[in-house]
Amino acid sequence: MAKLWAGRTSGMTDAAADDFNSSIRFDCRLYREDIVGSMAHAAMLGAQGILTRAEADALIDGLQGVMDDLDAGTLAFDPSAEDIHMFVEQVLTERLGDVGKKLHTARSRNDQVALDLRLHLRHASDAIAEQIRGLIAAIADVAEENKTVIMPGYTHLQRAQPILFSHHLLAYAMMLLRDLDRLADCRRRISVSPIGACALAGTTYDTDRQFEARMLGFDAVAQNSIDAVSDRDFCVELLGALSLLMMHLSRFSEELILWTSWEFRFVSLSDAFTTGSSIMPQKKNSDMAELVRGKTGRVYGDLMATLTMLKGLPLAYDKDMQEDKEAVFDALDTVKMCLTVFTPMLRTMTVHGDAMKRAAQTGFINATDLADYLVRKGLPFRAAYKVSGKLVSECIRSGCVLETLPLETYRAHSDLIGEDVYDAIDLQTCVKTRISEGGTSPESVEKQLAWVRGRLQKG
Ligand code: ARG
Repeated sequence: MAKLWAGRTSGMTDAAADDFNSSIRFDCRLYREDIVGSMAHAAMLGAQGILTRAEADALIDGLQGVMDDLDAGTLAFDPSAEDIHMFVEQVLTERLGDVGKKLHTARSRNDQVALDLRLHLRHASDAIAEQIRGLIAAIADVAEENKTVIMPGYTHLQRAQPILFSHHLLAYAMMLLRDLDRLADCRRRISVSPIGACALAGTTYDTDRQFEARMLGFDAVAQNSIDAVSDRDFCVELLGALSLLMMHLSRFSEELILWTSWEFRFVSLSDAFTTGSSIMPQKKNSDMAELVRGKTGRVYGDLMATLTMLKGLPLAYDKDMQEDKEAVFDALDTVKMCLTVFTPMLRTMTVHGDAMKRAAQTGFINATDLADYLVRKGLPFRAAYKVSGKLVSECIRSGCVLETLPLETYRAHSDLIGEDVYDAIDLQTCVKTRISEGGTSPESVEKQLAWVRGRLQKG
């Protein structure tokens, strides 16, 4: 069939070229936004007297009919259509006749596609934000249920200092709160209306861009028509925010994978979120967490593909930009799937506080506390650090831990040490006394928990 744009050319394109050029198989997911945008456009044309009221009403009714039929599944997308914009206009014109051909007055697909995408991303990123809030709430609940559990905190994946498990979990809540901030910030720049920019230069008709922007719930109108049709920063920003979110989920997944191993045994995942092996009967694998970790690379790929696609483009619109959609859709789908699985996986895991405590009892993770004890007795920190290190190597030599090292041995290294050293290096004390703001003491963790819940409530 000849194209709607047949004129200068015959519009009779090669079948393979048609296939290559067509975006309907992925931009069909923009049909609602496309139709809602067209309704606002028709209403504006009517209000401005560019079309008659009757024409505008007919277009709006016709568009509603197309939407209803697509929603109901009684109208199917035509896979041979060039894109969703052409498809809707074509169906409308088939149904309404000549008035259908008036819809595209004072508009171009360049501002139309930017509009559709912005409407879609605004909605999709709000949905992701809601899922993130759900995950943060789950983290806060699991932290609360395991408030007093002590685990070894790690640096370089070596046991470092004792911490509360709830403190560790809340670190992820902080990351996710920043992800929410980033999405909210990005939303401000998504919510800018490009419609009315037309192909690139604006239009000769007396349009009202503010009217359309208001109808579609935008917060602002793009101030330069060339920028309006060539800007895809909002896609990059969203992909950046989603990449960071995935990086956080991936680090969390990595920890869950480690923690569920026999080497750690800190937590077990519910059977509902693990898989078995086809050959090894004993296996219980953390596939969901591994997939979240794996899919992170794919979201980074979407970000890189979009950045690279844009870097050499002259202003204004270039067809390269059609590639933006598959990247953002893929990233949104991936993130949505990951969050859908991750939150219940976390809520249903079993925490093995005893195993964490046992791990915390080896590795000399109270050596800093021993040094701090000596500082309180008057030794400068660097000297105290040395004494504590010597005592650790003494323990390693004699196969004991600081808690069981005899007082004489302690005193042989420093006569500042007294019987009270045992209480000072007790794991409970180590945790309880880390009272600095944001530290691991129970009061501090309680404050962090309240802060996180407060942030969630603010929305
Ligand atoms: N399918 C196109 C896209 O996704 C729509 C815009 C086409 N504009 C054009 N001048 N060919 O970018």
